[in-house]
Amino acid sequence: MRIVNRKKFLITTIGLLVIILLIIALITVNVYNRMSKANEEAAIEAENQASASTTTTQTSNSSQTTSDVKTEEDTQTVTQSQSTETVTGDLGASGNFESGSIIQVANKQYSLSSSYVPDDLVWLDLPSTRDTQMRSEAATALTELFNAADSAGIELYCCSGYRSYETQSELYQWNVDTYGQTEADLVSAKPGTSEHQLGLAMDVTSESVGFDLLESFGETEEGQYIADHAHEYGFIIRYPQGKTAITGYSYEPWHLRYLGVDVATDIYNSGKTMEEYYGLV
Ligand code: DAL
Ligand code: ZN
Repeated sequence: MRIVNRKKFLITTIGLLVIILLIIALITVNVYNRMSKANEEAAIEAENQASASTTTTQTSNSSQTTSDVKTEEDTQTVTQSQSTETVTGDLGASGNFESGSIIQVANKQYSLSSSYVPDDLVWLDLPSTRDTQMRSEAATALTELFNAADSAGIELYCCSGYRSYETQSELYQWNVDTYGQTEADLVSAKPGTSEHQLGLAMDVTSESVGFDLLESFGETEEGQYIADHAHEYGFIIRYPQGKTAITGYSYEPWHLRYLGVDVATDIYNSGKTMEEYYGLV
């Protein structure tokens, strides 16, 4: 009985020891796992922090890039504006085309600064469909042309003279919206490329075309009168029929450009466009 009890005691004791060892083993594994997980989380956190820092750096780099792009854009804008000035300057060096000159060029190749405004604009005191301005010398010459026409029984009307860069932008956009880009580019100058911004152009009309700007104006006696006599007062029909490939614009029998009597008469006699006359094509 005693032996049996001792056996029981040993078995129970060993069993308990095994259970205790198992519990210790489980606790050890659990602690180990927790430590591993903690290390793992710490590692992930560290990685996230590192990655966040990389992202910050990248963001900052990309901000730098954006800022570089903007700077490039700004530079391009400046370069474009400078190149516009340079083009004008180059023309100036070769023939008095400088800003403010009476023969200053504004066309699809040679543009004006958005801030260019002639400093000698005056209001026209002539029959007109609206109040409009031109540079002083051109306004005086146009008044003489209108007086001569009036003496010949021809009644001309001013329609549109000087137009600011902003007004031209709105007009051009209206043409694009109404007719589409291709057609608009044949009848309306992009802002910065219109002679109206020079204050040296006037669109002329008459009652016979309903005070509108129509190609048929070229066949009216008013249209014929300016085609035959405008040069005597320093003006040319700037966008003649059949010259679209050179001027870039459809026939505009109404658009007078002031260049002074000598140049206008030379151009009239040569049958050339302004671009051909000055070798700009
Ligand atoms: N219609 C002429 C080309 C202009 O817009 O200046
Ligand atoms: Zn015009």
